[in-house]
Amino acid sequence: MPELAQAHGLTLRQDYFGDLTAWKGLVDLLQDTFSIDVDLQASFGGPDPTSMPFGYFDGDGRCVANFTAFSMPVIVNGRSVKAAGYQSGAVRPEWRERGLYRDLMQRAFERTAAEGYELDLLLTDKPALYERYGFRSLPQHISVARMPKLERSGSTARRLSLEAPEDLLLIKTLLQNRQPVSTRFAVIRQMEMFLLNACFNPAIRLTTLGDAAVVAWTFDGATFWLLDIAGTTIPSLATILSALDVEPDRIEICFSPDRLDCEVSLEPYEGYTMLMVRGKAADDIAGPLMLSPMAEF
Ligand SMILES: CC(C)(COP(=O)(O)OP(=O)(O)OC[C@H]1O[C@@H](n2cnc3c(N)ncnc32)[C@H](O)[C@@H]1OP(=O)(O)O)[C@@H](O)C(=O)NCCC(=O)NCCS
Repeated sequence: MPELAQAHGLTLRQDYFGDLTAWKGLVDLLQDTFSIDVDLQASFGGPDPTSMPFGYFDGDGRCVANFTAFSMPVIVNGRSVKAAGYQSGAVRPEWRERGLYRDLMQRAFERTAAEGYELDLLLTDKPALYERYGFRSLPQHISVARMPKLERSGSTARRLSLEAPEDLLLIKTLLQNRQPVSTRFAVIRQMEMFLLNACFNPAIRLTTLGDAAVVAWTFDGATFWLLDIAGTTIPSLATILSALDVEPDRIEICFSPDRLDCEVSLEPYEGYTMLMVRGKAADDIAGPLMLSPMAEF
């Protein structure tokens, strides 16, 4: 592959996010490929510092292909697992079907294997592309909760704005110090995607309960979607609904709800992308689960 890259005047770059021009090259590639602006992260502190990007750049400095690994520790059945996520996989149309993506994937997988990651995670609408590398799809489930008995709210709920510096600081502090939202399956630490996902979808509300937890949720007047909780403690569903002062017809919890002290029934989650896993910790993942939409990458 170095020969092919050289023949086309491409340069392989790794760990290049410190170079602002190269980072902008990736921003453009992702804008052109997925119509998303990952540079929105600039106002939150930039991209995930654990990122391990691999990219090919042309003679004009354009990023023509990229695949990024990053560290995303998760909890699986009560155990902390050193996991890697893979994102920002794209090749410009005129450079496709020449093996560039295969080359970048292999480099990223070799790197994370060498660094001892025991679980690899990705989200894709093209599962066949990754099956040949040993990834398998994990079905995800929404938990539909029975309405709990509401309590007199003991904690103050306050809506947060990512644009208010003191609110952003509180959210970041809680994301740094959070307990996993589930002991069955949840991210232990992932800050940048939570902030970016909140930014991408203006319907997402971030509300703090007594400054000890930030609840990410949406409500359309009938259905309440509980997307994530980043907190030093995890409040029960009853506490959350009481504090938010909503009485929905239907409650959908978009992560494994084992810490919420509530009764649920499961429904298959039909998302646009599939969650895929591989690695020696992959077999420990058992039973219905869902990756919080705030951790989507
Ligand atoms: C998907 C994409 C990254 C492939 O890039 P590429 O450089 O053309 O891929 P390569 O030439 O390196 O091919 C790698 C392998 O993937 C396979 N492949 C390519 N596109 C595929 C697809 N859409 N579905 C399944 N397999 C695919 C190739 O057949 C090849 O298989 P092989 O290794 O067994 O020969 C590129 O088409 C793209 O950027 N698409 C739009 C963005 C996207 O979908 N990104 C992936 C997000 S998960």
